[in-house]
Amino acid sequence: MDHLDHADHADHADLAGRFRELWDSIAPVGRDPGSGGYLRYAFTEPELALRDWFRAQAASRGMPVTADGNGNLFARWGDPAAGDAVLTGSHFDSVPHGGAYDGPLGIVSAFLAVDELRAAGAVPARPLVVAAFAEEEGARFGVPCLGSRLLTGALDPGRAAGLRDADGVSLAEALGDRPAGARPDLLGGFSCFVELHVEQGRALVERDAPVAVASAIWPHGRWRFDFHGEGNHAGTTLMADRHDPMLTYAFTVLAANKEARLRGAHATVGRVRVEPNATNAIPSKVTGWLDARAAEPETLTGLVDAVRAKATERAGRDGTEVTLTEESATPLVAFDGGLGGRLAALLDAPVLPTGAGHDAGVLAGHLPTAMLFVRNPTGVSHSPAEAATDADCAAGVAALARVLEELTCA
Ligand code: GLV
Ligand code: MN
Ligand code: MN
Ligand code: MN
Repeated sequence: MDHLDHADHADHADLAGRFRELWDSIAPVGRDPGSGGYLRYAFTEPELALRDWFRAQAASRGMPVTADGNGNLFARWGDPAAGDAVLTGSHFDSVPHGGAYDGPLGIVSAFLAVDELRAAGAVPARPLVVAAFAEEEGARFGVPCLGSRLLTGALDPGRAAGLRDADGVSLAEALGDRPAGARPDLLGGFSCFVELHVEQGRALVERDAPVAVASAIWPHGRWRFDFHGEGNHAGTTLMADRHDPMLTYAFTVLAANKEARLRGAHATVGRVRVEPNATNAIPSKVTGWLDARAAEPETLTGLVDAVRAKATERAGRDGTEVTLTEESATPLVAFDGGLGGRLAALLDAPVLPTGAGHDAGVLAGHLPTAMLFVRNPTGVSHSPAEAATDADCAAGVAALARVLEELTCA
């Protein structure tokens, strides 16, 4: 067969055109015309429409689709009896008003990579499976990488079934059943996983490279701070008499920012809930979600401990109470060095760590796993400003096809 890296300029322009055509078929789904961002929450109408799109794309390529009972979908190319499959893919769901590329780029690129391999006459010696993982962002039920955690047994299906969204709908209701949980029968049929993803920072812009290979994911997690105070009248309550949890909350946000800067770590409070949420009432309760990440696990632990200590100390001064609950934690992920090194050499691509979480980080505990990043000219993600050029997306597809060729055909 022709080697895919020998494609000439015209082929690349062609591939960018094929990318654009397939990309346009999902671009309107779940797009908010106001913000220009996406509202594609797991198992809601736009995300279900993308699942239908997945099934249609798989069917048009003669790829049978399997569901794992955890909301994840798998489309297979090749004879299942031919050996363990190479797995690729990503997720459809978004954060609130998220970018277009975070997730779907990995799925669209995977189908296009199958097309590239077929056009080059490749006959995979091992099957190739394209995956769409459920609720990667945790934007609906609060636990990121929910589908991959369930599949690998990292999350108890009983606990997951009871997770509720903001409207009180449980995961079991959204799925139509209690999640199946660990599926070693399925997982055991995969030899490795390669997730292609838009880059979520500026590293590739700085390196002037369209594609990179990931080395590691920073350890990270989500912690819920519940600040309890005394609801009261904004006009009549003397300042000295207040037990205002908003003050403790505000101080804690500043403390998290300061402690993260001191450590070279990242801390964000991007979500807050105020009760009763009235302009003229001192709140009775404020809940803030801390997202914290660091290069080393001990830095992350030190950061969260320091923020907890400062919040508790401040609560004493405000006459409020604070509790801290860990909602999810992802340990440091070092991707398979052998696989990553092989791919970096094959693609002549830079190798970088990331502070973003991915299903690849969950699967890395079970399978040799690698990630490819595609340059993002704005360096912005989890925002409508996230971007990627068609030419770079085509370079990503070509790189993925080359990698899948190497892993399935060699
Ligand atoms: C998911 O995208 C995360 O890193 O939070
Ligand atoms: Mn994301
Ligand atoms: Mn993602
Ligand atoms: Mn992610």
